[in-house]
Amino acid sequence: MRTLFISGTDTGVGKTLTSGLMCRHLLNEGFKVAYFKPVQTGAQELDGKLISVDTEYVKSICSDELRVIEPVIFKLPASPHLAAAEEGVEIDIDALLQKAKDVDDVDYLIVEGAGGIAVPFNNSMDMAGFCQKLGAELILVCRANLGTLNHTFLALSYAESFQLEASIIISGCAENPDVIEADNLKMIEAKSGGRIIGTIPLLSGLDTEDFSGKNTPEINFNV
Ligand SMILES: Nc1ncnc2c1ncn2[C@@H]1O[C@H](COP(=O)(O)OP(=O)(O)OP(=O)(O)O)[C@@H](O)[C@H]1O
Ligand SMILES: [Mg+2]
Repeated sequence: MRTLFISGTDTGVGKTLTSGLMCRHLLNEGFKVAYFKPVQTGAQELDGKLISVDTEYVKSICSDELRVIEPVIFKLPASPHLAAAEEGVEIDIDALLQKAKDVDDVDYLIVEGAGGIAVPFNNSMDMAGFCQKLGAELILVCRANLGTLNHTFLALSYAESFQLEASIIISGCAENPDVIEADNLKMIEAKSGGRIIGTIPLLSGLDTEDFSGKNTPEINFNV
């Protein structure tokens, strides 16, 4: 089984979109796939029950073949360490790792982090550390537009400090990139040692809190 940890340069950068498209791509290729969002913050209430918005979105664009590992859920839309503290608990990392280890009989386990790569689960564990502990391959989701070079280069060197060699997916690529965006892609390609494994176009009307399965084209990734 390959475990892919989908992290990003920031919150709202396209990790859930990428995770959903990745799961669907791999299912279409005939693989058995599981999706796991270890900690969901900013959970929404639906029919009196708290739901993981990221998990619902990924399910909404995949077939029923997708296996879903239930996340730990908190209400506050914040970093996991804070969302948990607000509910008077500390996140149990070993329990999360065990949930991932318990997954069997799939070819791919897609794990989506929370926020950016340095965001903490608690005082001693963040997303990069969790990826390392999982023994997962790191996929870093980056933006395409102005500002992405600083975020992406910092995230790559942070990953390296955990001996993680990130592959890159760039989300929100303009159909006709201007000079800045075209250069961003070239610079990220060079800095990452040519490890861009996919790009996702700028999708009009995309909202990952809409679970109707609309607005998501087929995208292939070079995993
Ligand atoms: N390729 C894209 N085209 C258009 N909009 C995008 C794209 N990628 C992300 N977005 C916008 O960003 C929003 C958040 O995307 P997504 O939920 O995938 O981010 P995330 O990194 O998973 O966030 P979180 O940190 O909350 O888990 C989307 O609802 C959409 O509005
Ligand atoms: Mg998400």
